[in-house]
Amino acid sequence: MTQQSKTAKAVACANIALIKYWGKRDIALNLPAVGSISLTLEALKTQTRATFDPNLDKDYLIINDQQASESQRKRIEKFLDIIREKSGNRLFAEVRSDNNFPTGAGLASSASAFAALSLAATHASGLELNKKDLSGLSRRGSGSATRSIYGGFVEMQRGKDASGKEDFAIQLASQDYWDLRLLILITSKEEKKMGSTEAMNLTAKTSPYYQDWVNSSGKDLVEMRKAIREKDFEKLGDLAEYSAMKMHALTLSSRPPVLYWNSTTLELIEQVRALRHDGIPVYFTIDAGPQVKVISLPDHINTLKSHFEFFPGVENIMESKLGPDVELIGDDN
Ligand code: PMV
Repeated sequence: MTQQSKTAKAVACANIALIKYWGKRDIALNLPAVGSISLTLEALKTQTRATFDPNLDKDYLIINDQQASESQRKRIEKFLDIIREKSGNRLFAEVRSDNNFPTGAGLASSASAFAALSLAATHASGLELNKKDLSGLSRRGSGSATRSIYGGFVEMQRGKDASGKEDFAIQLASQDYWDLRLLILITSKEEKKMGSTEAMNLTAKTSPYYQDWVNSSGKDLVEMRKAIREKDFEKLGDLAEYSAMKMHALTLSSRPPVLYWNSTTLELIEQVRALRHDGIPVYFTIDAGPQVKVISLPDHINTLKSHFEFFPGVENIMESKLGPDVELIGDDN
């Protein structure tokens, strides 16, 4: 029987980790060495349309209206192969993916991209997965994508089993649970120097602190869950800064060292500390790049926005509330 073409479209939000994921215990299956906890960001979205089509002679991949680069193509084709394997649908696919945030802004878009692709492509392939399995599948594309399956407060669990069957994310609380606000301060639009996978593997091999990072992560997760449960903003912020600094201490202690910050990053850290000293509830976190993400509460977000808007070295600011689960937004068939 000839297979019909089938299309599905999905939208997913990016997320920012409060307790960072850094390090893999299995590279091939992309199993994390540590658990992580994140906030899903409403303002940063990827919309993806996937079609499995009998008339295609290869996968066609368009990202932000441009042909995928060689490295993106390899990564996405490998991911589509996993879906083909699971669904038994052997057709090639056309994938169109668009971010609503500035492209090349140095923001990791792999989380929203692989979460949206997981839902759109499984649906188009004829495979219906629940959220747990969707999260586990997203992991094969990117570790942080597991968390973008859910809205609000999300934990990616580090499993013990070698198969990876326990490595998926769960929702800790929905987006309406607690109205946190974020500012994303863009300090550079350059490509990051080293991708997170390469840097993680370098860290695991060469940092003398790596094992301590892995051993101490359980405690950070317990404390962050408690801060969220008790809506203790100071505790949440303090732990988020601690986890980010600890992660950057790891990259700095690798050989060769990996320094993701620029001078504006450092100035913004000082600014956040000074504002806090003046009584504003505000904390920062930083991923594998020079952008600073500021976490605060609704009453203070406008003051913070005015403060950072024209700050030297800040090229762009985005504001976000907490966002929802990944969602199907249309299915042509
Ligand atoms: O999902 P990946 O492989 O791009 O790694 C994400 C790593 C960090 O963004 C630095 C931390 C995190 O938990 O998101």
